[in-house]
Amino acid sequence: MENEKSSEYLHGTHPAEQERLSLLNELLNAGSLRELDLRGLERVLDVGCGLGQFAREMANCTGIAVVGIERSAEQIAAGIRLGIEKGGSSLVQFRQGDAAQLPLEDDEWGTFDVAHTRFLLEHLREPLPVVEGMVRAVRKGGRIVLEDDDHDLLRLWPEPPGVQQLWQAYQKSYEYLGNDPNIGRRLVALLVEAGAKPVRNSFVFFGSCAGHWRFAQYAENLIGVIQTARATVVEAGLLDAAQFDAALAALREWSKDATATIWYAMSWAEGRRP
Ligand SMILES: C[S@@+](CC[C@H](N)C(=O)[O-])C[C@H]1O[C@@H](n2cnc3c(N)ncnc32)[C@H](O)[C@@H]1O
Repeated sequence: MENEKSSEYLHGTHPAEQERLSLLNELLNAGSLRELDLRGLERVLDVGCGLGQFAREMANCTGIAVVGIERSAEQIAAGIRLGIEKGGSSLVQFRQGDAAQLPLEDDEWGTFDVAHTRFLLEHLREPLPVVEGMVRAVRKGGRIVLEDDDHDLLRLWPEPPGVQQLWQAYQKSYEYLGNDPNIGRRLVALLVEAGAKPVRNSFVFFGSCAGHWRFAQYAENLIGVIQTARATVVEAGLLDAAQFDAALAALREWSKDATATIWYAMSWAEGRRP
């Protein structure tokens, strides 16, 4: 039963969404890796690893396979196919399971050097048990790295008609599912509540402007992410279908404007196990 799930994943796992997730990875992974600053040989756990693209990039830096936890069998199957295509199939050890009950062996707890998660906590009704599990998974002094959205930070210029209301409705669709669209600002607090010692926070810039060679892809990601929430937004009565479609069409039109600009950043927080 949907309502009894620990989380409901707003974006779904159909092939078009998997393509959007791949695109997002292409746009964001360099920034995430820069902040992570892996030195090599770290044992890394990636929680809610999706298709495993970022896990694979981390493994390329450490030289050791990353353990990736993912609940969805569809995501894992697509991730394995992608790994074979990209020639890095042994870099991610996918494990199917719930992030709140990490499927680790008894002798794996307390052994990881880094536990990382990105864009998972925003989809959970109760993010704290997940962060607590990540703290238990790393060794003493090990790093716990949380990356997530604070959707309130988005600014578009010029403002396309109806898109502020659309973005508000998108954020409220998280609340409708019992999730927090602004969890980014709470990441340090979550680390402390989970028993970690916070050491650093940061932003990974995730914006772009017309004229940048990848701007069209950033706009496509933004349009795609909103599109996946259409059914939930309409079901929750946050906008009707016609309002939703008109605002999304305005956003598409806006993306061709010579001055179109996306200002956005992903929240980053890092703690250590005492
Ligand atoms: C937005 S994707 C992010 C994937 C990856 N971390 C990235 O940054 O590319 C979120 C992923 O978390 C998975 N997920 C959602 N709830 C989960 C849970 N309770 N346990 C494990 N995975 C979960 C979804 O299936 C989805 O693949």
